[in-house]
Amino acid sequence: MSGASQEPFDLLVHRMTWEATDVLSVDLVHPQGKPLPAWTPGAHIDLHLDGLVRQYSLCGDPADPARYRVAVLNDPASRGGSAYVHRALRPGASVTVRGPRNHFELADAGAYVFVAGGIGVTPLLTQAREAGERGRPWEFWYAGRSRASMAFGEELGQLAAADRTVTLHPKDEHGRLDLDRVLTRVPADALVYCCGPERLTSAVRAGCAALGLLDRLRVEHFAAAPADGNGADGEGAGEERAFEVECVRSGVTVTVGPDEAIVDALENVGVLVDASCRDGVCGTCEVPVLEGELDHRDMVLSDAERAAGDTVLVCVSRCRSQRLVLDL
Ligand code: FES
Repeated sequence: MSGASQEPFDLLVHRMTWEATDVLSVDLVHPQGKPLPAWTPGAHIDLHLDGLVRQYSLCGDPADPARYRVAVLNDPASRGGSAYVHRALRPGASVTVRGPRNHFELADAGAYVFVAGGIGVTPLLTQAREAGERGRPWEFWYAGRSRASMAFGEELGQLAAADRTVTLHPKDEHGRLDLDRVLTRVPADALVYCCGPERLTSAVRAGCAALGLLDRLRVEHFAAAPADGNGADGEGAGEERAFEVECVRSGVTVTVGPDEAIVDALENVGVLVDASCRDGVCGTCEVPVLEGELDHRDMVLSDAERAAGDTVLVCVSRCRSQRLVLDL
């Protein structure tokens, strides 16, 4: 994680640009022209939109402290945030922002393969630019419904070079992206970065698993995996059980019911934890763990972070042991 600023602050909408069918980019600046908190490729910010808090990847230039840029798809499945941006937000408006945070850092590698679906292009665009600046070769595969719906295709094309290739793959022209073709040619020293709709990220995950590439895959999720009673660890959770949470610094112990989130149980006894998406995708509610057998259900922590077991995202994750001890 990097550059996290926990306190919300207000920015001005400076410009909105129609980037592609149903995709608006939003440039945000400080009302007094002050520099904004630094960020790294893969980072996102929270936007407070009409009573909702939504996460958007930063897709501008990390070297430009004067502005943040996000891109927002007017998604019919939206729970309200993107519809508000498209219908009501306009230049000159004030927006409350929190962050930036980065759970999708570009790790060091000899080469990269980027696989984007639709608006999932946004974090990968900045990562591809960064990878190029690091002098690393990469391939960028960008799938979308149609050419008109694919934002930043031109910007991506400008990053292409002899050892950096960009392939735009509109479905209405070429059908579905052939992931076997993409993944079987991943260089031995490459990491695979993927962001897009659940169908794409799941297919890339399955393809990487079949080819023994899972440890080289990094995925950014838009939304939580379907609630099917299974943890993100892939283990069937069966019936939920209650457990106790002890907050050592607050001196409070609370029982978390079978249908209750840890964050809610803590709130009920006055232990407040920052939470944003409450869906296990943004990382805001990560807290330090001192003891307990964790059942991670978020889409944020890496396998290594899960194995270390020293933090938990309390909006979705649970505890398999009777007692979870938090450094809160
Ligand atoms: Fe977003 Fe918990 S609030 S991961």
